[in-house]
Amino acid sequence: MNIEVVVLAAGKGTRMYSQKPKVLHELGGLPMLTHVLRAAQSLDAQNIHVVTGYQSAMVREHYAADSDFDAINWVEQAEQLGTGHAVMQAAPHLKDDSVAVVLYADVPLVNTTHLMELATLAEEHGIAVLTLDTDQPHGLGRIIRDPAGHMVAIVEEKDASPEQRRITEINTGIMAFNTRLLKSWLTGLNTGNAQGEYYLTDTVAIATAEGNQVAALQTQDKDEVQGVNNRLQLAELERAWQLRHARTLALQGVTVMDPARLDIRGPLQIGRDVTLDVNVIFEGHNTLGNNVRIGPNVTIIDSTIADDTVILANSHIERATIGDSCTIGPFARLRPGTILNRSAKIGNFVETKKASIGEASKVNHLSYIGDAEIGDNVNVGAGTITCNYDGINKFKTIIKDGAFIGSNTALVAPVSIGIDATTGAGSVITSDVPDRDLGVARGRQKNISGWQRPTKKLKD
Ligand code: UD1
Ligand code: CA
Repeated sequence: MNIEVVVLAAGKGTRMYSQKPKVLHELGGLPMLTHVLRAAQSLDAQNIHVVTGYQSAMVREHYAADSDFDAINWVEQAEQLGTGHAVMQAAPHLKDDSVAVVLYADVPLVNTTHLMELATLAEEHGIAVLTLDTDQPHGLGRIIRDPAGHMVAIVEEKDASPEQRRITEINTGIMAFNTRLLKSWLTGLNTGNAQGEYYLTDTVAIATAEGNQVAALQTQDKDEVQGVNNRLQLAELERAWQLRHARTLALQGVTVMDPARLDIRGPLQIGRDVTLDVNVIFEGHNTLGNNVRIGPNVTIIDSTIADDTVILANSHIERATIGDSCTIGPFARLRPGTILNRSAKIGNFVETKKASIGEASKVNHLSYIGDAEIGDNVNVGAGTITCNYDGINKFKTIIKDGAFIGSNTALVAPVSIGIDATTGAGSVITSDVPDRDLGVARGRQKNISGWQRPTKKLKD
């Protein structure tokens, strides 16, 4: 079977109240349209046509640089005169000897198994519709069946009689057609309805009138066919999707403390015996090794974390590469370019950026380490700051193996601390400290004996 997919994405999305086209709003970290395009690709469609109209340029621009979507045929619907009209714009591009599957860009979670079943039904019957029986049919097209139970028409809510409005089986919008027949039925559409639009759904009545038996495939999965018209529906669908994802992970052997409090916005590769506490957020591409433990309220963005590493509560990690058996947090911030080697330790209120921290080295409290290269077995005392920026340029700090940086040291870069060297607490280090030396740079303490504290003056 040759499949042509038509994705309808021209609508305005008024109820999103957004500058951004509705179909670019994200679900699980990806635009809704991307979800639909991926579903289309998994059907092995010979062509994917996307009908755009409202903010057409912005939608196309979004995919312009992405080679995954090179093959898409973008079709313009300059005026949005209805779903039937949208398909009419794509029709000249569709091969007659194919099955055309129509998807909506704002129904992001379509199930490809059901789409294949629908396409097979359309090949047999000429036309097939995915339907849903729901207790919330409000606003949707109702499925009209004859006494024998065959679908004979779809009536839009605005055109429906009170009796028809009581029907609970609705049109999900997802339909498949014998393309040759579709083209002929499209010519029979007109705008004689409550909305003055060309309804794609009218093809059902036309097909029936021509003696075809319309196939209906009823899904039990409401999320699969949930359309998004506003941000509340988007948020609710996001929760449903995240919950599924979390449950899948749990069934694959990840300890998810609460499946309702996990967000995965992008591809996540995960090892064995990983524990994810509540309110963990993954963004972009992330990889976790075995036995990794992530505490509550941790955000991890485009990072790699190796085996046996523990990340404690409220840490924020972005574009970092973390070796095995490290401990991070609580309240640590690892910014892009952070590299931790095995058994490194980053404690509370420590910020790192473009910094490589050697094996078993520790930065335990209240520090900023930026543009730095720290060797193995280094101890960085509380409150240490790499002064990497002179207001114009950034400079590098090098701390060699075994060095001990006293508390509250300011390392004014460029500067280098030698092997097993030490800096005195409170020092402002502006020049290199040779291997094994002690660098102290602060005023000496002076004690004044017999010092009298000031006394309070009496008011007259
Ligand atoms: C449509 C169906 C309805 C179904 C519902 C499911 C029709 C006439 N009605 O109604 O039976 O229950 O979807 O959600 O088909 N679009 C275009 N160009 C247009 C108009 C729409 O590309 O001129 C696109 C929209 O961007 C959207 C999709 O088609 O992706 C559906 O359009 P929408 O206006 O939301 O249709 P509904 O009125 O909800
Ligand atoms: Ca809609």
